Amino acid sequence: MSVYLDNAATSFPKPEEVYQAVIHAMREVGASPGRGGHHRSLEAGRIMFMAREAVARLFSIADSSRIIFTHNATGALNLALHGTLKPGDHVITTSMEHNSLLRPLHALGRDGVDVTIVDAGPEGLVDPDQIARFVRKDTRMIAVGHISNVCGAIQPIDRISAICHKAGAMFLMDAAQSAGYINIDVVSSGIDLLAAPGHKGLLGPPGTGLLYVAPHIELKPIFEGGTGTSSTSLEQPLMMPDGYEAGTHNLPGIAGLKAGIEFILDRGIDTIFQHEHSLVNQAARLLGLLPGVKIYGPGDPESRGAVLSFNVEGVDASLLAAELDHGFDIAVRAGLHCAPLAHRTIGTLPGGTLRMSPGWSSTSEEIAFFSDAVVQCVGKIKESM
Ligand SMILES: Cc1ncc(COP(=O)(O)O)c(C=O)c1O
Repeated sequence: MSVYLDNAATSFPKPEEVYQAVIHAMREVGASPGRGGHHRSLEAGRIMFMAREAVARLFSIADSSRIIFTHNATGALNLALHGTLKPGDHVITTSMEHNSLLRPLHALGRDGVDVTIVDAGPEGLVDPDQIARFVRKDTRMIAVGHISNVCGAIQPIDRISAICHKAGAMFLMDAAQSAGYINIDVVSSGIDLLAAPGHKGLLGPPGTGLLYVAPHIELKPIFEGGTGTSSTSLEQPLMMPDGYEAGTHNLPGIAGLKAGIEFILDRGIDTIFQHEHSLVNQAARLLGLLPGVKIYGPGDPESRGAVLSFNVEGVDASLLAAELDHGFDIAVRAGLHCAPLAHRTIGTLPGGTLRMSPGWSSTSEEIAFFSDAVVQCVGKIKESM
């Protein structure tokens, strides 16, 4: 058995339709959208449009032209932050964030943006009242990850966005671990900027991501170049979405992303959620029976996404991940998962955690196999100590 439980890093396998869509874009379409009047370029443009429409349907976005394709969630977060913030602005974020949010904020901090990092509790949950305490007159943005990639904590985003809007600030949500897993409605959750990778829960290929920008948000492009529009002007066009997607698109990637999202829409996001949620709970139950295992994150399964982090007392997480890989062909991830402050928050510095994250195609048998393998690997490691 080959078991892939690293869907929080990137999802694998993809639905068959995704592979077919990538091959079709490469073999049969072959051209770039907006870069010619021939039928191949027009077909590429049609695929792009349909991909944007699929994203819009998934997140209840009224106007699909407000969706900008990027290369990953990091690209979307950088565009959201560098494209809206200026010196003198105040931003609130949390200690549970990924470096893809914290590093651009740190860089902006050097340029005069004032950043407040609110500590989450030891289970990784952010208390909205703590966020409210730090709101000031000059607060322009609250930026929060929906689900922690370290311990799976699902943040109370509706309450946080309400605080944000009361303060007249923008709400940026990093949906890297929630897009394609949990239902997201940008209108009812008051999301002004939504950053998501295409290659995780949305089941698209690597090299895809997106940023949704609400109609009232003004965004500055963070790089300039050819857009296939307004070509006589040296000024970067500010038209959505072209002005923010300069350069040749990753059409095979976006075609695959379209197929991935259509798969999710067909299957139903609630079905996917129930499936992954039950697998994570099964893993938590089985691991919880093992001696010396400590599971991190919310104790209440309702507050935990499809990400489970744990450690085994006296066993190095990286060593255990390597044993699971070499001995059992099980792919999990050990370490800090690019979120050092989250580990400080949940008390797992410096070694980090072992993280397992099932996906749409994971099975209950695989989870049982994984749990048995952990027992055997721990035994082997302890014997050799
Ligand atoms: C919470 C979170 N934010 C951002 C990212 C960055 O995503 P990407 O690799 O698509 O840039 C990740 C990736 O693991 C993540 O888990």
